[in-house]
Amino acid sequence: MNPKTLDATTRVAVIGAGSMGAGIAQLAAQAGHEVRLFDMQPGAAVRALERIAADLDGAVQRGRMTAAERDGARERLVAVERLEALEGCGLAIEAIVEKLEPKQQLFRQLENVLGAQAVLATNTSSISVTAVAQGLQHPQRLIGLHFFNPATRMKLVEIIRGVETDPALVPALHALSQAWGKTPVDAPNAPGFIVNRVARPYYAEGLRLLAERVAPAAAVDKLLREAGGFAMGPFELMDLIGVEVNLSVTESVFQATAFDPRFAPSLIQQELVRSGRFGRKSGQGFHRYGADVPAPQV
Ligand code: NAI
Repeated sequence: MNPKTLDATTRVAVIGAGSMGAGIAQLAAQAGHEVRLFDMQPGAAVRALERIAADLDGAVQRGRMTAAERDGARERLVAVERLEALEGCGLAIEAIVEKLEPKQQLFRQLENVLGAQAVLATNTSSISVTAVAQGLQHPQRLIGLHFFNPATRMKLVEIIRGVETDPALVPALHALSQAWGKTPVDAPNAPGFIVNRVARPYYAEGLRLLAERVAPAAAVDKLLREAGGFAMGPFELMDLIGVEVNLSVTESVFQATAFDPRFAPSLIQQELVRSGRFGRKSGQGFHRYGADVPAPQV
C-alpha cells in the first residue's frame, strides 16, 4: 500500500448509496475522480445518481458550478450492481448501515475484490475503527473518514486511526479531504469520536423534554434555531440525519461506554424507528414532510 498515490487519478468506490454514500460519491466526482457507486439494494445506486443529477442541476442554476463542471461530474459517476465491479478502485469509502458486523463483512469481501494497494475508509459515525478492521488480511489499510450530512456542503471531516491503521494514511487523507474542499480534523477512536459524542446530550435532552411533555418537538426546534443560534433544533436534525441512523449511533455509544446512562436510547425514538418514521427520507419523523400524512403520536 502506498497512500501517497491517492490523488485525483484514484478511482473511488463508494459502498452504500443512501444519504451519505450519494453525497460522498458526488463530492468525489466533483473533485475529478472516477467514481463507482454500489448498494446491496438493486436499483438504489441508480436512484442515487438521479438525486445527484438533480442536485448538480440545482448547483448550475444557482451559479455554484458551470454546466461543463456538472457534465464532467455526471460522466465520472457510475452506478454498479455487483461488488466485483469495484475492481480497480484505489480508495473504497463505506457508507452502509451503522452496525459492526455488516461493515466487517463488507470490508472482508472488498479485500478480495480490490488490489493490495487499495485504501479502505469507513464513514462510521460511532463504531470503533479498530473493530471494523478486525479480521482483515491487511487491517493497516483501513481508516475512519467521517463526513457530515450533507457531505457535499459540510466542511468538517473527522479522520480516525484504529490501533492497526498505517500512520502514513493520516496525512494522505488530510491532503485528499483538503483537495475535496474539506477541513480535516484528527479524532480519537473513542465512542462517537468527537462530534457525535458532544452532540449526544443535545438529542437526549430534547427527547427528555418531549417525554416529560415539557414542550413539543416543533417548539424546541424553533427556540433553539431562532433564539439559540443553532442551525437546526435536535428533532429536525435527527430527521435530517435519519432517526434510525441517529438511534444506531446512540446505541453504539451506549454499548461502547459500558451502558453509561447518559447515552441511554429514548423510548420515543425507538418507537418512531419501529414504525418506520425515519425522518425526511421516509416523509415523516418527528416532523412531517409530505402532505396528507398523519402526525406522529409522540
Ligand atoms: P442510509 O440508510 O441512508 O443508507 C445506507 C445504504 O447502505 C442503504 O442504501 C442500504 O441499502 C445500503 N447498505 C446497507 N448494507 C449494505 C451492504 N452490506 N452492502 C452494500 N450496501 C448496503 O444511511 P446513511 O445515513 O447514508 O448512513 C450511512 C453510514 O454513514 C452509517 O455508518 C452512518 O452512521 C454514517 N453517517 C451518517 C450520517 C447522517 O447524517 N445520516 C452522517 C455521517 C455518517
